[in-house]
Amino acid sequence: MPQNLSPIPELFVSPDSAQKLKQEAGELISHDLTSRQICDLELLMNGGFYPLKGFLPEADYDSVVSDMRLADGKLWPMPINLDVSQKFADTIELGTDIALRDQEGVILATMTVTDKWVPNKSLEAEKVFGADDSAHPAVNYLHNTAGAVYLGGPVTGIQQPVHYDFRSKRDTPNELRALFRKLGWRKVVAFQTRNPLHRAHQELTFRAAKEAQANLLIHPVVGMTKPGDVDHFTRVRCYEAVLDQYPQSTTTMSLLNLAMRMAGPREAVWHGLIRANHGCTHFIVGRDHAGPGKNSAGKDFYGPYDAQELFKKHEEEIGLEMVDFKHMVYVQEKAQYYPADEVPEGGTVLDISGTELRRRLAEGLEIPEWFSFPQVVSELRRTRPARNKQGFTVFFTGFSGSGKSTIANALMVKLMEMGGRPVTLLDGDIVRKNLSSELGFSKEHRDLNIRRIGYVASEITKNGGIAICAPIAPYATTRRAVREDIEAFGAFIEVHVATSIEECERRDRKGLYKLAREGKIKEFTGISDPYDVPETPEMRIETESTEVDNCAHQVILKLESMGLITG
Ligand code: PPS
Repeated sequence: MPQNLSPIPELFVSPDSAQKLKQEAGELISHDLTSRQICDLELLMNGGFYPLKGFLPEADYDSVVSDMRLADGKLWPMPINLDVSQKFADTIELGTDIALRDQEGVILATMTVTDKWVPNKSLEAEKVFGADDSAHPAVNYLHNTAGAVYLGGPVTGIQQPVHYDFRSKRDTPNELRALFRKLGWRKVVAFQTRNPLHRAHQELTFRAAKEAQANLLIHPVVGMTKPGDVDHFTRVRCYEAVLDQYPQSTTTMSLLNLAMRMAGPREAVWHGLIRANHGCTHFIVGRDHAGPGKNSAGKDFYGPYDAQELFKKHEEEIGLEMVDFKHMVYVQEKAQYYPADEVPEGGTVLDISGTELRRRLAEGLEIPEWFSFPQVVSELRRTRPARNKQGFTVFFTGFSGSGKSTIANALMVKLMEMGGRPVTLLDGDIVRKNLSSELGFSKEHRDLNIRRIGYVASEITKNGGIAICAPIAPYATTRRAVREDIEAFGAFIEVHVATSIEECERRDRKGLYKLAREGKIKEFTGISDPYDVPETPEMRIETESTEVDNCAHQVILKLESMGLITG
């Protein structure tokens, strides 16, 4: 049997032992896995991350970070860690078995903790992601979401994480290998994607399969992708529509519950190893594979062909052949797609970029048939209606007494006058009276307060309403996290109410600044507590020389210019 088709080791125990182990594990100290850890654990247990036997111990981690290799020299580019809080880590002694539970409390695995350490996250960011820059989603995750301590050790698998969606379309590496054996597929080229497929993708995958004389596996990621991506439910419905366009006997699709890191070159190598584990022999790598977008200086994190170069360098060890991803364009006169560098002379090239597609969807404009399939376009339109029908959030931030609440109120009234969508005001003071009544003003409590406001606003946005938030929200990282939560569903407009601290103190409408100066109120923003001035808000409003009505009107104009409301 070809090596790519023989069974691959998994970390699961037998079903009988799993039953027993699950009962015993009920007595162990438990760790509640995060969404990303659940994705990682699934691929650890089912062999997708073979040869890993668990979350990386410290020696493997160090070696992966510095040299892209496990301590024994095997190629592995991505640190796979069980990050936990310092508080939880303090309860764990080395050698202890812990239970790993999903978010409903179901025990998925046990792990013997052999290593516990505080990682150098800045070094990890530099080495693995190329820069310690929080504009990179994985670096942002590393510094602002991941726990402070890493635990490492072997994992014993009890059961797969439960999925209620698209169950028949999810396959473990061994299930795919068995399928390929059954179908007699010897060569399989995998196509990785986190975006909907359009005609150009169909053409390029078709060509890649032809070039490699292989069958085709469309292998989209449905775990975690880049914040702001089209949700996987919509994408899978789109993929199904496209799949009808391929000859059935040559192509199949399977969903991969991977949590992407957007690590460009290292990610491409990682994707290759994962696809090799899933029984594939070829892998399509394109321009800017798994690119995270721009860094905080507005430049791309990686060169456009870095991923292809690194992949090529390690092709043999990865065990997969790379197939060059050709940028396909439509040639009008020929009414067909060509690789961009093979366009017949004089041909008129038509192309629609991702940004242009989003603009057309947002503005409800035509998307031509040569670009995509009608079923795909209608799916996308269903989830992403035109901007003036979507929900959105206006998020005011600024010092106490800066005028946030007053402008927010005026804006709410103006939007209600226009009608069309329900409007909800989440004012700082009001939220603190009900939703966050038990919270104080420590960093931890302020963050919790803002995350709650963000959660409610994201639900409102998701359901097509308008949320107006007006808390101080002093921390940039928390504002960014809220932005990410909301942008998954609609626009997020950060408005910095830039009244100076001197002016707020002069106004002192509630008499709080006086009390803060006298030390009677502690941790008072701007006096004895920090405020991170927003660097690139959608709007900055000066209130010192502008009337409230005019400030609110400025926001209305901004919303109109963004296409969120129609005049
Ligand atoms: S935060 O930081 O976003 O969670 O704050 P927020 O929920 O907006 O609450 C701010 C309102 O609480 C009053 N207040 C204080 N503000 C800042 N620091 C301290 N220590 C404090 N203690 C009480 C203050 O009236 C704020 O109301 P606004 O509407 O901003 O003036």
